[in-house]
Amino acid sequence: MSDIILQTENLTKEFRGFLAVQDVNINVQRGTIHGLIGPNGAGKTTCFNLLTKFLIPTRGSITYDGRDITRMKPAEVARLGLVRSFQISAVFANLTVLENVRMALQRQRGASFDFWRSEKVLRQYDDRAHELLADVGLTEYADLRAGQLPYGRKRALEIATTLAMDPAMMLLDEPTAGMTHEDVDRIVTLVKRVSAGRTVLLVEHNLKVVEGLCDRITVLARGQILAEGDYAAVSRNPEVQAAYLGTDPSSVGVPEGAHHG
Ligand SMILES: Nc1ncnc2c1ncn2[C@@H]1O[C@H](COP(=O)(O)OP(=O)(O)O)[C@@H](O)[C@H]1O
Ligand SMILES: [Mg+2]
Repeated sequence: MSDIILQTENLTKEFRGFLAVQDVNINVQRGTIHGLIGPNGAGKTTCFNLLTKFLIPTRGSITYDGRDITRMKPAEVARLGLVRSFQISAVFANLTVLENVRMALQRQRGASFDFWRSEKVLRQYDDRAHELLADVGLTEYADLRAGQLPYGRKRALEIATTLAMDPAMMLLDEPTAGMTHEDVDRIVTLVKRVSAGRTVLLVEHNLKVVEGLCDRITVLARGQILAEGDYAAVSRNPEVQAAYLGTDPSSVGVPEGAHHG
């Protein structure tokens, strides 16, 4: 088994002649938290969507765990253990927090999807669901309808439903977007905790969020890799600082297009 779990080679995505991601070569070391950061418009989300197979690259390749996954579908890579948070596209607002996690577990294990008729079957998942809720700090919210969760807690629930798939590698796109300082701190702690025994690729606008969380950071700007290294190295890189000028890296808690729904 290679130490590199995820690798891109000349990953490129063109939108009608515009290079949103250009010749990006990323190597993610197994068992690490790897940050993919950059100012707005850098190509982070495009890159994320390429890695999770929601977009097809214009050229280049993606290798996961020694396999070429460039042409695979999202569900196929998920079965290989590469899972994006929010893979299960949404949290079901009318189900309770516990029911949401239970359903994710049921889905993972390939059980029947007509959950409303198989209450007994679902009970089997209760223990594991409660464990996952404890992992993400949602125990006290177990019986609340997901739609009534505060925004920051919803992201925690989404992480729990992702963990239900028992991924070897998790991809998170701006898990702290639109959060208050308090929620940001909680999600940072949470990501750190759930990363044990896994690999995490974290896409993040904000340098501060990846500080102390990421082992290695790749900085994108205008679709290309600008710098790479640990937090200390990239944060003092003048090119990185220049790329971040005009954006505010300390705006962690300022909801940028925040939605609290
Ligand atoms: N579907 C698309 N069609 C055309 N341009 C796009 C599309 N998606 C993203 N872009 C452009 O690609 C660039 C990178 O966008 P994005 O990946 O969303 O950046 P980030 O997530 O770093 O803010 C932006 O200039 C954006 O306008
Ligand atoms: Mg983005």
